[in-house]
Amino acid sequence: MKILSIVGARPNFMKISPFVDAINAHNKESHHPIHHILIHTGQHYDHNMSEEFFKTLNIPEPDINMGIGSGSHAQQVGKTMIEFEKIVTEVKPDWVVVVGDVNATLAASITAKKENIKCAHIEAGLRSKDMSMPEEINRLVTDRLSDLLFTPDRISTTNLIQEGTPLEKIKFVGNIMVDTLENNIIKAHSLNIHEIIEKNQINGFNQSQEINDIGVLTIHRPSNVDDKLILERLIDFLCSEVVKELYLIWPIHPRTGTRLKEYNLWEKVMNNDKIILLNPIGYLEMLKLNDLAKVVFTDSGGLQEECTVLGTPCLTLRWNTERPITLKKFGGASILVGNDINNIQRELYRVINEKHEPFRPELWDGNTAERILKELINFSN
Ligand code: UD1
Repeated sequence: MKILSIVGARPNFMKISPFVDAINAHNKESHHPIHHILIHTGQHYDHNMSEEFFKTLNIPEPDINMGIGSGSHAQQVGKTMIEFEKIVTEVKPDWVVVVGDVNATLAASITAKKENIKCAHIEAGLRSKDMSMPEEINRLVTDRLSDLLFTPDRISTTNLIQEGTPLEKIKFVGNIMVDTLENNIIKAHSLNIHEIIEKNQINGFNQSQEINDIGVLTIHRPSNVDDKLILERLIDFLCSEVVKELYLIWPIHPRTGTRLKEYNLWEKVMNNDKIILLNPIGYLEMLKLNDLAKVVFTDSGGLQEECTVLGTPCLTLRWNTERPITLKKFGGASILVGNDINNIQRELYRVINEKHEPFRPELWDGNTAERILKELINFSN
């Protein structure tokens, strides 16, 4: 069997790593080895947004890097489709495997189906019901086209059933991100916070201060960072209120850095002596900081899941989530606070001294990749 899988942006790399491991484990034992070809679109291209993750997560060098780079959504999707079509027609795989909800996911699933190649989607069925989110469009189209839909939780399975997806296409396999977390948590624990800061810092934070209570911040969604007023209000609040309670460690996404400079907010953040501004950090470093943090502020999808498994209170800077299983009301760690300062403040004081309460939803057990590979093999037989 020939499988072609495709990744493009940072959150994809954590999802492909255990899948590659599962294929390698299969190939060691089976008389029917799988030929796996890995494609990187090149949407994320900075060393610390891409290569660093391949190294840390032991992902082999991609067989092909398309070098798509940045651009508008149409440019990214269009360029990826044009290049991917050439690869698919030459390689003629039995399956194209796509992960998550980024532009590569959408572009590859459309291209595969137009070439009559079976497509499998890892992390299917997530829905925010927010059509202003580019990722929601990517999820809807990819799921509509895929032949096998691997869901991380039962809520996602229900979403697909309600949309009329045939039952035989849906396989509830658990969350592949948890496989990666399991494989790396011990290594992450061995890291040292001072070394993480030293290696990645942007604003020359004075490390002779004792860093006890920390919060971690990540924001990159257009809805939070592309609107000057919204971003300015958030920054004011972080720089004046949150820092009274915590040292705030902020690994900054390139999109957000650009916006801070554009809106003249960069200096304000740089000069705050309780904000520790970092370049984008590696996977292990993020796990370590997450585990240490009293609270995480984020608009990322993956962090909501990692906080749930580690038990770190997570204030999700969004009004909705495609990952409701991570919400407090389902046993998770995440609270939706949007970008309303009163909400954020109220919830911050409520959770800041809470004990970490790790939670594992059903099948978030570290064996998801193995289940996925079994289903792919069974389907093909
Ligand atoms: C993308 C994904 C999003 C994911 C996020 C994680 C889509 C639609 N969005 O959004 O789902 O949560 O990645 O990071 O696919 N840039 C760099 N260096 C890089 C990568 C990007 O400087 O290595 C710059 C780009 O030039 C661009 C900006 O960052 O100006 C945004 O990058 P882009 O890939 O368009 O989208 P993300 O916001 O990263």
